[in-house]
Amino acid sequence: MAEALRIGIAGLGTVGASVVRVLSEKASELTRQCGRQLVVTAVSARDRARNRGVDVAAAKWFDDPVDLAKSADIDVFVELIGGDEGPARACVKVALEAGKHVVTANKALLAKHGVSLAEIAEKKGVLLNYEAAVAGGIPIIKTMREAMAGNSVTRVFGILNGTCNYILTRMEAEGLSFEDCLKDAQRLGYAEADPTFDIEGNDTAHKLSILTSLAFGCKISADDIYMEGISNISQADIRAAGELGYRIKLLGVAQQTESGIEQRVHPTMVPTASVIAQVHGVTNAVAVETDILGELLLSGPGAGGNATASAVIGDIADIAKSRPGFQHGPVFGRPAKELKPYKRAKMRAHEGGYFIRLTVHDRVGVFAAVAKRMADNDISLESIVQHAVGTEEDATKTVILVTHETTEAAVRKAVDGITKDGHLTDKPQVIRIERAG
Ligand code: HSE
Repeated sequence: MAEALRIGIAGLGTVGASVVRVLSEKASELTRQCGRQLVVTAVSARDRARNRGVDVAAAKWFDDPVDLAKSADIDVFVELIGGDEGPARACVKVALEAGKHVVTANKALLAKHGVSLAEIAEKKGVLLNYEAAVAGGIPIIKTMREAMAGNSVTRVFGILNGTCNYILTRMEAEGLSFEDCLKDAQRLGYAEADPTFDIEGNDTAHKLSILTSLAFGCKISADDIYMEGISNISQADIRAAGELGYRIKLLGVAQQTESGIEQRVHPTMVPTASVIAQVHGVTNAVAVETDILGELLLSGPGAGGNATASAVIGDIADIAKSRPGFQHGPVFGRPAKELKPYKRAKMRAHEGGYFIRLTVHDRVGVFAAVAKRMADNDISLESIVQHAVGTEEDATKTVILVTHETTEAAVRKAVDGITKDGHLTDKPQVIRIERAG
C-alpha cells in the first residue's frame, strides 16, 4: 500500500472538528477507497485548551498556522480558518509555495485571491481543491470542472446560502419574524461569524463569483456582482408572492448576455411549481444550463459541519488518489493564466419580469397614475391587484404589479416616477422574477 497521506488542518471550529471526526470514524473505508491511509498529523487553532469533542492529541500542535502550512510533517494543508486576508491567505500561499496540496472551504479567500493562488498551484503542480467553498456538501465544483467538460454554459444560478434559505423558508411556513429565524440559524451553526455576510448577500456573491469563473472561463470578479440581501423582505412580500404563484428565494445568478456577463445576487420570485422553489431550509441548489447537457440541478445540504466536512474529505480523497507526476487539471477549469478578463453587463440592461409592491394613499387617480408611469416606460403588466390596509381614517392601499418581460432601466424609471408623483406612503418594493423550470 502507498504511504499514508499526511494531513495538516488549520482551524478546528464546527467544520474542522467534523473533518477530524469523520476521518477517524471512516478511516478503514477511506483507506480502501484511496488505497492509502489518511492521517491527521498536525493541527493548528486559536485555543489549544478548548474541548472540541474530537481527539487531536496524536497530531502535532502548531500555534501558528503558517508554520503548519510549510511543515515537513504534512502533504496536504487544509485551511478552515476563514477570511479573505490575514492568516488564511498567508498560510494557503505558503503551503502552495512549499509544494503542498491545499484544500480550503474559504469562499471569501478564493473570491478575492483565487486566480493568483491558482497560478501558484499550477506552477507548482499541486492541487488547490475547494469543493466545500460553494454550496456546502453539493459536489458542484467537481461537476462543473470535470463532468461538464466541453459544455458551454449559458446561465448558472442557485440558492447558495443556507442561512438565507432557512430564514425565508421559516418566515413563509411559520409566519415568524426575520430576527427569530436568524437567531435559530446562528444557534444551529449555519451562519457566518458575521451574519450580515449571509443576509446581505456577500456569502452568496463569493460563491457565485467562483461559479461564474468555472462557467464562463473568466477571471473571478466578486466586486462586479450586483447585490441585494433579504433583510428588507417582509411578511407582506412573502404573502403576496404566494398569492401570485411565486416563492421568494435569495438567488445568485450568472448569465451570459450580449453585452457581457451578468452577475447578480438578490431576493427573487421563482414560480412555486418550479423545482428550485421546492428547496427548503438550509438546503442549497445549483442549476446549470448548457448547450450539450441542457439543464442540470443539484441540491443538497449547503451548510453545517457534516455537510461541509463531506466536501472537504472528498477533496482530500482526490489528492490521496492522485499520483506523483500526474498532471493535475487547472484549478478553475482552464489554466489560471488563460482565464479571460471579466466583462460586466450593466444591471440596467437586465431583462426579466418584476414584482412591484406599492403602498399608496387611497385617493382618486392613484391607480391611473401608476398605470400611466408603467405605460410611459413601455412596461406591459401581467397583473395588477389592490389590497386594502390601514384603518378607515388612515386608509392606504397596497398595489401589487407583476410585469411582463421588461428592463431594469424601465422599471427603475417607472418606480422613480411613481415615487415623485407623491402617492406612496412607504418605500416601494421591487423584486425580480427569475425564469426557472
Ligand atoms: N453561512 C453559510 C450558509 C455557510 O449559510 O450557507 C456555508 O458557506
